[in-house]
Amino acid sequence: MFLAHLLHQAGVDCVVLEARTREYVEGRVRAGVLEQNTVRLMHRLGIGARVAREGLVHAGTTLCVDGEPFHVNFADLTGGGAVTVYGQSEVMKDLNDAADRRGIRVIYGATDVTPTGLDTRTPVIRWTKRDDTQDLECDFVIGCDGYHGVSRASIPAEALETFGRVYPFGWLGILADVPPCNHELVYANHDHGFALASMRSPTRSRCYLQCSLEDGIDEWSDQRFWDEFSVRMGETFTARITRGPSFEKSIAPLRSFVCTTMRWGRLFLAGDAAHIVPPTGAKGLNLAVADVVVLGDALAAWYGAGDDTGLEDYPRRALDRVWKAERFSWWLTNLTHRFPDRDQFERHMQIAEFSYLRQSRAAQTSFAENYVGLPLDF
Ligand code: DHB
Repeated sequence: MFLAHLLHQAGVDCVVLEARTREYVEGRVRAGVLEQNTVRLMHRLGIGARVAREGLVHAGTTLCVDGEPFHVNFADLTGGGAVTVYGQSEVMKDLNDAADRRGIRVIYGATDVTPTGLDTRTPVIRWTKRDDTQDLECDFVIGCDGYHGVSRASIPAEALETFGRVYPFGWLGILADVPPCNHELVYANHDHGFALASMRSPTRSRCYLQCSLEDGIDEWSDQRFWDEFSVRMGETFTARITRGPSFEKSIAPLRSFVCTTMRWGRLFLAGDAAHIVPPTGAKGLNLAVADVVVLGDALAAWYGAGDDTGLEDYPRRALDRVWKAERFSWWLTNLTHRFPDRDQFERHMQIAEFSYLRQSRAAQTSFAENYVGLPLDF
């Protein structure tokens, strides 16, 4: 949807095919931390009014190991940097409402989407909606259809280059209408595993616990969740935790994945279709936005001046950022989680790194500049 708006601004026509309903897309609970790059793009696209009003600007975060917290001040370390806490569902509403006003065509409930002729100048995309099958001839197909989508699967196996790893744990997340236990996010490494105190508003908490991949939702009553969350957050925060019934609870696996084949003929991959990061550090949505900023410029140059250098360069430019975000998310996951297959030596490495981060401005600066988002040149 960000790309659809970028193209609309550049006067390039596009059609968005969405498998789900609009209600699903706007209701799905996903990430909640926007880099300043993402917020700036929302303003540039004229969809920034609500995030400016309702987004919570966080100029720092707290890291905590075995109950000992310390604060990292992003603003001080990065010359005024900050992130904005604003749910992905809210971003989707802002994008979709503006798409309505601008006449951007979005087809919800498009199933059996099939791209063909991707290695020709006139690819065709076919889809079905309510028993009606349509074909659309186009210049380009942009695969923004996620890890399980049809786009990457349309690239011949021999042309695909992928890298990745699966982590031996999951994240159990809940939403509850209780005030957060801290005014900013808290990332906690405890001997029992990782915990994260996040939020969606001053009255809505979003909390996560590292859990076993074998765990089922039914095994995690709200009582058990809050008990374990209190233990992992440690003494400083326990007294500040307000418990309440969860109204969303889910378990997500964690993986790192990069498909370096971000272009094949007239198909370009962006976002989760090309790469997955573990959620630690909240880079997924922001990285997808960074992809389409590069791609939007490249497509505008192709349509405006017949210049295809931007399209040629897209994988290289996008991947340069992708690998850095992969590294940061992998590093923060390694630093904060308990790995069942690792020994006490590795635990001491984590504790030593926390101690170094606590004491070193250089180490904190590296963390902070990655967390608020490396600069995007626009
Ligand atoms: C949230 C998710 C994250 O992965 C993270 O690092 C911070 C916040 C969230 O959903 O609020």
